Formats: sequence, C-alpha cells, structure tokens
Amino acid sequence: MADISIIGLGYVGLVCAACQSNDGHTVIGIDVDPQKRALVSSGVSPIVEKDLDRYLAKSISNKRLTVSADIASSIAKTNITFVCVGTPSDSQGGLELKYIEQACLEIAQGLKAISHFHVVVIRSTVLPGTVLNVVKPLLEKCSGKRVGIDFGLATNPEFLREGTAIHDYNHPPMTVIGTSDSQSEAILSDLYSSLPCELVSLDIETAELVKYSCNAWHATKVAFANEIGSLAKSIGVDGRKVMKTVCMDKVLNISEYYMRPGFAFGGSCLPKDLRALNHEARKRHMQLPLLSAVLESNRKHIYKVFTQIKALGQTRIGLLGLSFKAGTDDLRESPLVELASLLTSKGFDVQIYDPNLNEMLSNDNGVDPRIPYPYLLRLLSEDMDEVIDFAEVVIIGNNEAEFSEVESTLPHHKHLLDLVGFMPGTSGDNKHGVCW
Ligand SMILES: NC(=O)c1ccc[n+]([C@@H]2O[C@H](COP(=O)([O-])OP(=O)(O)OC[C@H]3O[C@@H](n4cnc5c(N)ncnc54)[C@H](O)[C@@H]3O)[C@@H](O)[C@H]2O)c1
Repeated sequence: MADISIIGLGYVGLVCAACQSNDGHTVIGIDVDPQKRALVSSGVSPIVEKDLDRYLAKSISNKRLTVSADIASSIAKTNITFVCVGTPSDSQGGLELKYIEQACLEIAQGLKAISHFHVVVIRSTVLPGTVLNVVKPLLEKCSGKRVGIDFGLATNPEFLREGTAIHDYNHPPMTVIGTSDSQSEAILSDLYSSLPCELVSLDIETAELVKYSCNAWHATKVAFANEIGSLAKSIGVDGRKVMKTVCMDKVLNISEYYMRPGFAFGGSCLPKDLRALNHEARKRHMQLPLLSAVLESNRKHIYKVFTQIKALGQTRIGLLGLSFKAGTDDLRESPLVELASLLTSKGFDVQIYDPNLNEMLSNDNGVDPRIPYPYLLRLLSEDMDEVIDFAEVVIIGNNEAEFSEVESTLPHHKHLLDLVGFMPGTSGDNKHGVCW
C-alpha cells in the first residue's frame, strides 16, 4: 500500500482521495480552501457526487484519509503526490497555470527536505509540453534536485465523468500514465495493479495529448449527433432512431476503423454524400457547422501534404498509389489524384506507380474515362522500381501490400513520405510521416 498526497480537493482530487484511501492506501488530502478542508475532515463531501459522502466518511473514520493545508510536510510523509488543482481557461482561451505553478513551488520545498524518492504526478489536464517545459524546470530549479535521479515526474490524466465519478474510478476503460523515468513507471504501475483495466504506459507528452484527444472526440461526437438529429427532425424522422442504428455498426462506425491518422479521405461516396447532406441542409436553411467543415478540413489536409513535400526542396516525386485506397482502381475523388495534380501544376516532375492501374496502361487508346485528369495517365509506370529509381522523394500513398517494404529498402539519400503508417517510428533523417 502506498502513502499518497493529493493536492486540490475539487472534483478530481476528492474522488481520487476517497477512492485511493478506500482501496487501502494512506492519503493526505491538501487544499488551500479552509472550508473544504473542514468539511472533508469531518467526512462530508463539499460537492454533490454519488457515493462520495459514504467513501469519505469511511476513510476519515478509519484514518486512511487525513486533511492538511501544508504541501511540504505532506511530501515528507508520502511517496507519491497527485496534483489535481484547477487549470481553467485564461482570457485568451489558453491554460491558466498559476495553480499548478503555485503547487509546484510548494512541492519543490518539500522535495528539497527529503532524502527518499518521491513521484510527482500531474493529474490536472495540461497541454502537451506543460509537464516537461513548465513543471519540470520549476521543480528542479526550486528543489535543487533532478528528475529521474532524486525524484520522479509523471502525468496520469483523469477520465472520470462527474455524477458517476466513483463508478468510473472503479471501472475505468483504461488507465493512462506518462512517465520519463522507469522508477516512476514502476511505482505507478504497482499503484494501479489492482484496477480492472489495461494500464497504458506512454511518454509524458503523448499521455497529455491523449487526454485532450478524448475530450475533443467526446465533444465532436455530441456535436455530430446533434447535427444529424437536427437534420432528421427537419426531414420528419426521429434522430434518436437514426443515431441508435448508426451506433449498431461496431465494425465501421463505433470502432477503430477510420480513426487512424494518415491521408485524406476520398472515393466515390464520402465526398459526394457529405456534399449532398450539406446541400440538403442549406436548402432547409439549416446550419450544420461541423458537417460543413469536414470537406474543407479534408482539402486542407491534402494541401498540408503538398507543403510538406515542397519543403523538402526536391523536384522529382515518385508517387506509389493513385486510387483512393489499396485494392481498387477507382480514381473517383481520390485525394492522391488531387495531390498528383497539385504537384504537376506547381512544376514538380511526377511519376506514379499503382498496380491496380496497370491494366489501364495496356489499353492503348490513350484515354480512359476513369482517369479524371487524362495527363496523369502519361505519368503512370508499370514498374515500381523504375519510379523509385527516378524519384528524389518517394510517397507511399495507400496501403497496397507491396509498398510495405519500401520504407526499409529505400536508399538513405532519398526522402520517404509515408501517408499510410508503414514506418515504425516517427519522422527523422529522410523519413517523414504525415502525422507522426
Ligand atoms: N471535473 C472533472 O470532471 C474533470 C475530469 C477530468 C479532468 N479534470 C481536470 O482536473 C483538474 C482539476 O479539476 P477539478 O474540476 O477537480 O477542479 P476544482 O476547481 O474543482 O478543484 C481544484 C481544487 O484545487 C484547490 N487548489 C488550488 N490551488 C491549490 C494549491 N496551491 N494547493 C492546494 N489546493 C489548491 C482549489 O481550492 C480547489 O479545491 C483540472 O485540470 C481539470 O481540467 C477535471
């Protein structure tokens, strides 16, 4: 069992304190607010949250949970500190970090005075880079000690929902930790070993961004369901029935499918159907800001890839894949066709290989109606090695199986741009990922 300090007895800190003490750990709950401290130390919750009163009353009476105003002395009595103070919006929409910074100043005083290893865990929601660029230098400068040697530093984002927070603590979908040193990782893994879920151990910045991605995704889903629901009502159908049916598809709709960063979408259906849906909404004088932004977002993504290629400063481009996805010769609204067209219009020398289009090349009538820009036909080659030999930049455009080896066999002096996710690592040297 661990000895834990929890700084900030708000929604997150208090639930954390109640649940961890209920699990048998010894917890000191710390807050600057004397009224909160008084209520909690008498076993009464200052917030409305199902089961919290019961958990607090039990932990206070068996002394697993005590309350304090003094961070530094709590650090001396514990091994792990969870920072759960607020990180509200500042006037520009950024993060107000003054509560985090104040707490860190006091933690540093505590760290200065101890000789044992203590892990500082940021549980508050903070933007990527905050722990390493704000918290770490502050703690190191003010304590005179070093992360990874004298003390540990980690992030452990909270995913609870108010109203079901205790239930969520006991039944988490996953527990995410971000650590920079193995000792902190081992201590947190041990702390969470009894939780009935997967422990996902990441680097600190990835863990910070996971938290924001989850909330952005939740918000996007609500907005999506409401836009579909509004359109449904206007058409005279029940939006609840529509979305309930949409959610029954656990293969494509509620799944990892379509949730991998990479290149833009295209093909004969998604762009056309989004256009039609938005057109219908406009006809009905309805505004669907999320759905009407999706095609624009997709166009911007294609242009972003173009600027990424331009920045490499090379002119000979080898594009592997032209159809909108592997295993088809369908070029309708393929984003790779858009990219190839953009590159050629800006003076790049492009050669293209797509195994599914070889049959088109053997038609010697020169014009295939499936090719939206006939001049692209002249850029097609039947030989992948020929395209690779020609190119200074090789782009893996779709996940055709024969492209999977290109990353590992490409000569080092050539640039590789992976739009698919074949490369195992992130961008470095001449290897570039579109979103990694
Ligand atoms: N509320 C949620 O559902 C939720 C869920 C997940 C993550 N989060 C994140 O967790 C963090 C905390 O959220 P919250 O809703 O619990 O905030 P809150 O405002 O309810 O609680 C913060 C507490 O910290 C205390 N505090 C501030 N500075 C302090 C200091 N120097 N020393 C001791 N105590 C101090 C405050 O008095 C307050 O009681 C935020 O970053 C938030 O974004 C919140």
